[in-house]
Amino acid sequence: MKIGVMTGGGDCPGLNAVIRAVVLSAHARGWEVFGIEDATHGLVDLDYRSPHGNRWLTPDHVEDILGQGGTILGTSNKSDPWNFVVEVDGKPVSTDVSQQTVDNFNSLGLDALISIGGDGSMRIANKFGNMGMNVVGVPKTIDQDVAATDTTFGFATAVQCATEAIDRLQDTAESHDRVMILEVMGRDAGHIALHAAIAGSAHACLIPEIPYKIGPVVEKVKERRRNGHPHSIIVVAEGAMPAGGEASYGENELGEMPKYFGAAQRLAAGLEPHLELDVRFTILGHLQRGGSPVQFDRILGTRYGVAAVEAVEAGKFGQMVALKNNQVTTVAIADVVEQHQHRVDPQGPFVHAARSVGITFGE
Ligand code: F6P
Repeated sequence: MKIGVMTGGGDCPGLNAVIRAVVLSAHARGWEVFGIEDATHGLVDLDYRSPHGNRWLTPDHVEDILGQGGTILGTSNKSDPWNFVVEVDGKPVSTDVSQQTVDNFNSLGLDALISIGGDGSMRIANKFGNMGMNVVGVPKTIDQDVAATDTTFGFATAVQCATEAIDRLQDTAESHDRVMILEVMGRDAGHIALHAAIAGSAHACLIPEIPYKIGPVVEKVKERRRNGHPHSIIVVAEGAMPAGGEASYGENELGEMPKYFGAAQRLAAGLEPHLELDVRFTILGHLQRGGSPVQFDRILGTRYGVAAVEAVEAGKFGQMVALKNNQVTTVAIADVVEQHQHRVDPQGPFVHAARSVGITFGE
């Protein structure tokens, strides 16, 4: 067997753990593994970044990568073959290069593709499957928003990063009697914010799934002050929205996903007129995506990589490996694509635990 492996979408701690597990378990079967660079870029153009790009991967290539963040294959979130942006006369133009991508895949003599990515990558994998390609998906994202799996690797590392940031902000908040806001990533899902708020003992947590009002957040800060704690920590998800409003977006280029921008700044501006305390905000940004994966993500990435090779061996194409009740299983990629994103359940156990320890959601 000859299999291709690629990583798509934003980088995420644990990607190298999957690549390593794929290469080692495939080689143990006597298979060959072709590493495709920068998501589909390496398939759209087989000479992409030649000679340092696409390459056949041996166990030597993955010898020391388990604890490394990022992806040794490179990645891209601007590589949808059905909306591939090329420059024509100096201007960006969207083109469909899907047939060229499939033709290149076939010309490499590959029997299957293991596509590691988030919901966008699964949509692309599903379309590849419809064009006859043998695809197995592996879900990744720090946002934990991929449907049909309990979690994704990368999430635990991102939450750890956000929790450590809250611990640091707590020091300044306490020393200066300030309100410190931490903005975290997550797109339309508030999982990172919610988990970090619980783990970091924040006092308010604002997530896209529960539109917030300024009043209850102000009241929480004032109540803490009355009780002798003149500092507060607020975690705000980048996609959080005020009741009746919408998330705060920046500008985006052709072929790009919408970019979130400004949630913390907007919140600080909304709070300041109501408080006599200083309000500061910190945007944690891409610090959440980098760094060495925590042990949970290394192990889950390894389990997913092994399971993906087993799925190829069993001919389970059009399937994505997934975690259900701590068991790795497979689900149809078509179902993943059709289902809604995995978002925070406002009535679920994590929100319940947070509310029970006094964290306000600004309701
Ligand atoms: O999906 C992962 C993620 O980090 C989101 O949480 C965030 O909104 C987005 O990617 C940022 O993307 P980029 O790296 O393109 O700015």
